[in-house]
Amino acid sequence: MHLCAGFFGLAGGTSAHSKIRRPQCGYLAGEWMIEQKIEQFARRHPTSALTILMRGLRDLLFFFATLTGYIPIHIIRFVLYRSVFGVDIPRDSTIYWRCRFFDPYGVHIGHNSIVGNDAFLDGRNGLYIGNNVSIAAQVLILTMEHDLSSPTFGVMGGPVFIEDRVYIGSRVTILPNVRVGVGAVVASGAVVTKNVEPWTVVGGVPAKFIKRRPVLNYVLDASTRALFQ
Ligand SMILES: CC(C)(COP(=O)(O)OP(=O)(O)OC[C@H]1O[C@@H](n2cnc3c(N)ncnc32)[C@H](O)[C@@H]1OP(=O)(O)O)[C@@H](O)C(=O)NCCC(=O)NCCS
Repeated sequence: MHLCAGFFGLAGGTSAHSKIRRPQCGYLAGEWMIEQKIEQFARRHPTSALTILMRGLRDLLFFFATLTGYIPIHIIRFVLYRSVFGVDIPRDSTIYWRCRFFDPYGVHIGHNSIVGNDAFLDGRNGLYIGNNVSIAAQVLILTMEHDLSSPTFGVMGGPVFIEDRVYIGSRVTILPNVRVGVGAVVASGAVVTKNVEPWTVVGGVPAKFIKRRPVLNYVLDASTRALFQ
């Protein structure tokens, strides 16, 4: 069980990384509960000292996750992300430095995958990154947004799935409820608003089909881990 899940008294253990899990499973439900339990309690006792304390500790935890991103040594970041902040990442994958998170315990990464520097990973509704995925620098992946027709400007959203052997170019934004199909390529600077078909290249704002990509079966080498990267 991850320390942050344990802190709030909830089970949040990891399972196999090798396949992308669906958000309806119990594991994600457990992650949701951390946030929901705090907010349920906060709605009932908005001014209670416990509400302020729990929200403050949760926010502090995310702040420490941000600080962890500035540690210029991969193995230290890996250990902290995994054991303290609950990121579901195996040893053979890498998150480059200065990554920021919403709900790090909602981020799941498969084998031999790379998340480039200065990424923003939103785990609030579950972010599932498959195997042999290459994500370039400064990519923003969101799983929540505001409901434009809500009288209270409430929030909505859904999980993002990035399937095996996807290549995401630098400065791409991926919006909630999107599935990027196996082997797809998202060109640098794109904003992905809809599902991307497997083995296609998409680009632009909003991202549109550019061309097809040949079906390949490589294993990505995610072991290059320079300092300050
Ligand atoms: C998507 C990408 C891989 C395509 O490369 P490619 O196969 O060499 O494709 P081409 O350069 O032949 O371009 C094909 C078409 O896509 C368009 N295109 C290329 N990049 C684009 C982009 N970022 N946004 C929108 N359109 C793009 C080209 O203009 C071209 O259009 P045309 O056929 O109308 O002339 C590349 O453009 C890209 O974005 N690479 C990511 C770079 C990066 O992030 N590097 C850092 C991590 S390693």
